[in-house]
Amino acid sequence: MRLTRKVTAMALASCMVLSMTACGGSKPAETTAAATAAAETTAAATEAAKEAETTAAAAAEAAGGDMADKKVGISIYKFDDNFMTLYRTELERYMVEDLGFKKENITIQDGKGDQAEQTNQIQNFIASGVDVMILNLVQSSSAPQVTDMCKDAGIPVVYINREPDAAEEERWKTEGLNATYVGADARQSGTFQGEEIVETENKGDINGDGKVSYIMVQGDPENVDAQYRTEFSVKALTDAGIEVEELLLQRGDWDQAKGQQIVQDALTQFGDKIEVVFCNNDAMALGALQAIDAAGRKVNEDIYLVGVDALTEAVQNVVDGKMTGTVFNDHFGQAQTAADMAVKYLNGEAVDPVNMVDYVKVTNANAAEILEKVK
Ligand code: GAL
Repeated sequence: MRLTRKVTAMALASCMVLSMTACGGSKPAETTAAATAAAETTAAATEAAKEAETTAAAAAEAAGGDMADKKVGISIYKFDDNFMTLYRTELERYMVEDLGFKKENITIQDGKGDQAEQTNQIQNFIASGVDVMILNLVQSSSAPQVTDMCKDAGIPVVYINREPDAAEEERWKTEGLNATYVGADARQSGTFQGEEIVETENKGDINGDGKVSYIMVQGDPENVDAQYRTEFSVKALTDAGIEVEELLLQRGDWDQAKGQQIVQDALTQFGDKIEVVFCNNDAMALGALQAIDAAGRKVNEDIYLVGVDALTEAVQNVVDGKMTGTVFNDHFGQAQTAADMAVKYLNGEAVDPVNMVDYVKVTNANAAEILEKVK
């Protein structure tokens, strides 16, 4: 999973240029620099060298030009979030190892769940003269203000994970602003969760009373991921003609401990009536599973449980039959696309306002395979 198609293409291009010399285990950025140099020396001499130069240019372009002196400001809405920790780790790895950025030129700040604090960090990025920003906003509703700050400073911005609203994205287009969003369409993940229930042998109706009674453990409701997953997971059931009954909807802010508490209380209050536990993410589903175990209930026998993200532990639970399903929220694809968009801006290329990466449904049928990718 680590080797993306792009990296493979880049390495291939470098290897073609360096076939006269060597193409061993050197890092892509070094390889590319060497490739460019090699091509430059020989280009004037022969026809073959001209070809090499073309290939070197392709390699450099694949690597995004020379990124070694580019400064990047990144702020994550809060470091204390399982999924965004995977994302941030991959983002930095990819930028340094595959795109040739210098680690010391990448500043990653913890927004600590506080928009004022994060806005401060963005102001500091501007003052320190970063070349591009990658921002996971605490509140996506701050996007218009932040975009204007970046525009005034002449710094392009790549928003990730928390999607600004449609009007703001439209404005980037009409006003020609250097702002873009990289994420995943949460309607798709919600739909996949609902389908995972529809695909069970009794379509979620464990007690056979003709309706599916569920509880919904929601993420941060300001976040469109939470809104859409809540809506579309249930919609997949009703679209399949299944009657539903919502016993409880409560916010758990993406947090495992909150997920556990909510489900523990719900099991005490509603007991066997609960047939399905929908969690907007895996961290809360892992908490839910602790509560389900403690109450002596058995997932896939007397209760169903689904999450989103494909955290390693959750996917392992799906393999083991302790969770009904999850949805792979592709942090590799999203992190790499976000970095690629930053590089495009740095190279003066045009960038689409919205860039979506697909989710993947994870059930017992493919969980082992997905586990190989995420672990
Ligand atoms: C979601 C993810 C959650 C949480 C959230 C933060 O996409 O599923 O686990 O990380 O982003 O905004």
